[in-house]
Amino acid sequence: MASQQKSGGDVNVPALLDLTIDNITPNTIRINSQSSNARLTYLMSRLVTHLHDFARETRLSTDEWMAAITFLIGCGQISNDVRNEFILLSDVLGLSLLVDNINHPKPAQGTEGSVLGPFHTHDAPTLPNGACMTADPEGEPMLALCTVKDTAGNPIPGVKIDIWETDSSGHYDVQHADRDAPSERCVMVSDDEGKFWFQGLKPVSYPIPHDGPVGKLLQLLKRHCWRPAHVHFMFGKDGWDRLITALYLRGDPYETSDAVFGVKQSLIIDLDRVDKETAEKYGVKEGIWLLKYDFVLTTQEETEKLKDRLAEEALKKLGLSLKLVDHLPVPDLD
Ligand code: BEZ
Ligand code: FE
Repeated sequence: MASQQKSGGDVNVPALLDLTIDNITPNTIRINSQSSNARLTYLMSRLVTHLHDFARETRLSTDEWMAAITFLIGCGQISNDVRNEFILLSDVLGLSLLVDNINHPKPAQGTEGSVLGPFHTHDAPTLPNGACMTADPEGEPMLALCTVKDTAGNPIPGVKIDIWETDSSGHYDVQHADRDAPSERCVMVSDDEGKFWFQGLKPVSYPIPHDGPVGKLLQLLKRHCWRPAHVHFMFGKDGWDRLITALYLRGDPYETSDAVFGVKQSLIIDLDRVDKETAEKYGVKEGIWLLKYDFVLTTQEETEKLKDRLAEEALKKLGLSLKLVDHLPVPDLD
């Protein structure tokens, strides 16, 4: 370790001279460790450790380092208000799903989460139960009959549910340059029995945006850019852990190779056909597609307890001496 010097303030930092492959990491961590924010210090320390180890392990070449910088610049340049290439990068690297799984763990009965994706908007109309959220004449109509319950099976009324899917061409409304109003999306509220129901389209598989740096990366990696057919759902109510998920159609050609890793067995569904009685009850045509699903939410308290327990187990396995502050690990210096 290089000798100490005063940094103008009252914190000792290393003299940053003659740094080598072997001592640059602890010195970078030391200079980054002056904040009173223990979590920030911990995050930066682990980031620098992994980043430096990556360069040492791969003997990262200058050309490769520059290619990565150029790639990130490209991600920034193609991003705008409605397109975020960095989130897409996180999605195709599996990071988005990993972060969701860490932060929203579910007990066995709870509905599992999936990736949010970039196509949720805040302008979807709140529609009454039974309403139709699409005006696409080409798609195959689908009735969805759903419930939202707690882990003990009690209905949860008053849950706000955002629902969105593509049109029959595999595009979200925001991907159409001439979009003048929201389409294939709505917000519903569960009724006193925890039920919500709506009319939409049988979902279709579609490619994620692949005309930018992330698309090029997938190509280099010989990966495809497709997502299996799905409908997105986001559930919110005070006191309940917000659930972002999606339902996927069984048998889709991309069921086991989703470009963004969002598919879970428990979220794969079989569609049925609407029979005469159901058609009459819900005012739809007999024979259209029928989606049925019972969603299960967990309380914020249940989720936080589970998250803490899983964090403690994971940290123990890693042999790290950490404590949880606000449900997040920081070094345990006591
Ligand atoms: C989506 O399902 O809408 C999506 C998710 C991740 C990346 C791109 C699209
Ligand atoms: Fe999607």
